[in-house]
Amino acid sequence: MTLRPRTPAPSVPAPGKLPLTELAELKRRSQPIVMVTAYDAASGRLADEAGVDLILVGDTAAMVVLGHESTTVPVTMDEMLFMTRAVARGAKRPLVIGDMPFGSYQVSDEDAVRNAIRFLKEGGADVVKLEGAGPSLSRVRSIVGAGVPVMGHIGLTPQSATMLGGFKAQGRTAEKALRLYEDARALEAAGCFALVLEAVPAEVATRITEALAIPTIGIGAGAGCDGQVLVYHDLLGLYAGHTPRFVKRYADIGAEITRALSAYADDVRTGEFPGDEHTYSIPPEELELFEAALGSGTVKDHAEDRE
Ligand code: KIV
Repeated sequence: MTLRPRTPAPSVPAPGKLPLTELAELKRRSQPIVMVTAYDAASGRLADEAGVDLILVGDTAAMVVLGHESTTVPVTMDEMLFMTRAVARGAKRPLVIGDMPFGSYQVSDEDAVRNAIRFLKEGGADVVKLEGAGPSLSRVRSIVGAGVPVMGHIGLTPQSATMLGGFKAQGRTAEKALRLYEDARALEAAGCFALVLEAVPAEVATRITEALAIPTIGIGAGAGCDGQVLVYHDLLGLYAGHTPRFVKRYADIGAEITRALSAYADDVRTGEFPGDEHTYSIPPEELELFEAALGSGTVKDHAEDRE
């Protein structure tokens, strides 16, 4: 009897992939973890080439890619899968994180598991991320139980920004800070391999980071986290909307793109583009035959076809 090779478990990394277990090692060695968002193959490839460890295909896509205003809620599973597939094609070494959109895990554990599996099977993601604690704890347990690694996300959780009173820093009273601390420990106990802390006071994020064996990835949570994440469009200056104070802009690519597009438009309008170097030629003898054929009157007139 010939044994067929077994299909690898979903969380077995492809050759060259950063092993998931390396993240806890990085924390143990106090080596900062670098995470960034990406939404297509080009940004995935560029993040990989820059040596980033984790790429989040974030539901911030709703705003920075799809143009929804001030909300991440409208983006759908199909839209997220479309972008995740593209990023996974571009990024080889970094772990690709599929961000579970609003509605894909809120209803039931079964729904959450089904959609998390879609991120791996259809999206090519390595792991998934979801927001919140409370009801999300049983989602995390179920998804991890199905063999899909989960990153948690607490503090400012944009999918529930309305309930939180807007896009505001969280955990700024002793009581709220304590709740965040307890949520973080509960998410670790539920099986998360890492935790995003968004818009949390630095002191609170540091205490949470010290209390956990899993890495924390901060965004607006100070330097005491085990790693940092920024949104691609924010750090590159590609997003025209509001950017929070925790964003550091490393380039103004948006202005550079506008400059290049204006130069292109000018060139087209003035006849500068295309030049000879952008143009294909035909051998002179072929051109002569072509002209002769046009002048011979034997060219089919398609006027009848149009009637
Ligand atoms: O969707 C996203 O981009 C995020 C980051 C801000 C962490 O969740």
